[in-house]
Amino acid sequence: MEDAEVYYDSAEPLVPKRAGLAEVREAAMGCRACHLWRLGTQTVFGEGSDQAKAMFVGEQPGDKEDLAGRPFVGPAGKLLDKALEEAGIDRGDVYITNVVKHFKWEPSGNRRIHKKPNRGEIESCRPWLDAELERVQPKVLVCLGATAAQALLGASFKLTQHRGEFVESGFSAKVLATLHPAAVLRMPGDELRERATREFFDDMKLVARQL
Ligand code: URA
Ligand code: SF4
Repeated sequence: MEDAEVYYDSAEPLVPKRAGLAEVREAAMGCRACHLWRLGTQTVFGEGSDQAKAMFVGEQPGDKEDLAGRPFVGPAGKLLDKALEEAGIDRGDVYITNVVKHFKWEPSGNRRIHKKPNRGEIESCRPWLDAELERVQPKVLVCLGATAAQALLGASFKLTQHRGEFVESGFSAKVLATLHPAAVLRMPGDELRERATREFFDDMKLVARQL
């Protein structure tokens, strides 16, 4: 991408004030506040009811999510579904979203490889996440991976040190940070992967107990 095409404006002016979740979602569909709108197929907004007691926040949509227009429907989403199911949480009862709403990727052969969002992209997109938080006001907020944890709990938050702990926050919610399901799937070797899977599943059970 040419540098001239890279820009980071805040989505803030696009968020309809005093509007419900459906109207906010509709506005987000046309967001072009940062350059990522050109890269992704569509805005992948959060999914779920504004009455949800728990909100799960990932990093950004992946390849499958970008095409479907829904969060966590690819391989990471399948693992999340399994962990929720095992914890006795109905996916239909929770709100699932991402810090960044467009898929950032680079080509590798004929595949689209996920690229981590940078600080400018995260800041541009933040007003959408804040709007979701304000409207859902979840009792429990779950950060899936370090990007979400650092966006919501501060840049110095260490996931490896505080995974699976509930911390109080200004979002009128108990916040828990856990592993990102995609990171669990990427763990090298069966032993590490199995341990990470167990930790991820255990954290979902901690969440279930708060609901
Ligand atoms: N990874 C994420 O962080 N979010 C998704 O929606 C899918 C994969
Ligand atoms: Fe807007 Fe976020 Fe998409 Fe950037 S990534 S264009 S801020 S919705």
